Amino acid sequence: MQRIVVRSSSGSYAVVSGSGALGRLGELLSRLRDVSDVFVLSSPRVWGKCGASIEKVLAARGRERRRAILFDDAESAKNIRSVETVARGLARAGADRRCVIVAVGGGVVGDVGGFVAATYLRGVRLVHVPTTLVAQVDSAIGGKTGVNLPEGKNLVGAFYPPEFVVADPALLGTLPDRQFRSGLYEVVKYGVIGDAALFSYLERNMAKVLRRDGAAMRWIIARCVRAKASIVTKDERESGLRQILNFGHTLGHAIETATRYRKLLHGEAVGWGMIGATLLSYATDRLSFGEAQRIIRVVRGVGKLPEIGEISAARLMQLTRGDKKSRGGRARWVLARDIGDVAWGVDVPDALVLSVIRAMPEIAGLARGRG
Ligand code: GLY
Repeated sequence: MQRIVVRSSSGSYAVVSGSGALGRLGELLSRLRDVSDVFVLSSPRVWGKCGASIEKVLAARGRERRRAILFDDAESAKNIRSVETVARGLARAGADRRCVIVAVGGGVVGDVGGFVAATYLRGVRLVHVPTTLVAQVDSAIGGKTGVNLPEGKNLVGAFYPPEFVVADPALLGTLPDRQFRSGLYEVVKYGVIGDAALFSYLERNMAKVLRRDGAAMRWIIARCVRAKASIVTKDERESGLRQILNFGHTLGHAIETATRYRKLLHGEAVGWGMIGATLLSYATDRLSFGEAQRIIRVVRGVGKLPEIGEISAARLMQLTRGDKKSRGGRARWVLARDIGDVAWGVDVPDALVLSVIRAMPEIAGLARGRG
């Protein structure tokens, strides 16, 4: 188990990650002062699987009221309507400013729950208990909260750091295979953006990782958590370095928006986005052919990505311009210079982006065939 401290503009918080972390939840909650109620926000699916173990931890700790508010955790439900539903649930339950929200679930629960915590009564305390790989290695750390609009991904939100994060890999045991693979794309991302050793490990051990081998999972999760904590501590508000976490996300978010958040899981869209960003890195002479091939092989090694051929290249390119990192209507790309080294804020000519989007499905297929 590791305890990593993340610094943010509103104070530091701990990320407790690893086997046995869930056992620390009660004690960490007990350290919060003057708590009226604890509201667990989760989805019916997640709560059905891990509600009993979380309830047990919470029941052992205090006398304040506890209540669970459950909502749909599909990406297509990560919207303002869910925020309203949850906030009204809190209001009807009489939640006051001294309450604590404990978000138990994947990225959608964390992002919606976090945004509710940031805005309900102008801010109540928040704790993250991530239950998916994507949330444990990425979305629960760093204070980003928010929801999607039909016009684009995560366009409404707030930076709102939690009191602490408890990430226990035991909670991943019941994660469906597709969700697990979706999280692995984010793990691949950490290798490309700054950790060549992690990337090589994935190249050599993908079969073991896909079997969810305990030692392999502990090793990769610990590395990703340390990387995320370090990046967001240096650049909480994404004014520079934090943008590297968006490798694969410019196109990924466009694909999610184009498919109305219904066809692909977030990590799958990032998988496609990393293939696109890798091709752009090669086409702009940043990355060698061999390294580009390695990245595409590892992405494809995670599993078969859902087809995206039905989305027009022009539409995808147009959507990349609505990305949060765009400036003056131009998308700003994160491109690889090497495995473990990326540049951010890169402007790429439209014609190149269009050809890469058109080539992506075929090139991804070829790399898989050779791999
Ligand atoms: N998931 C990207 C970030 O937290 O900045």
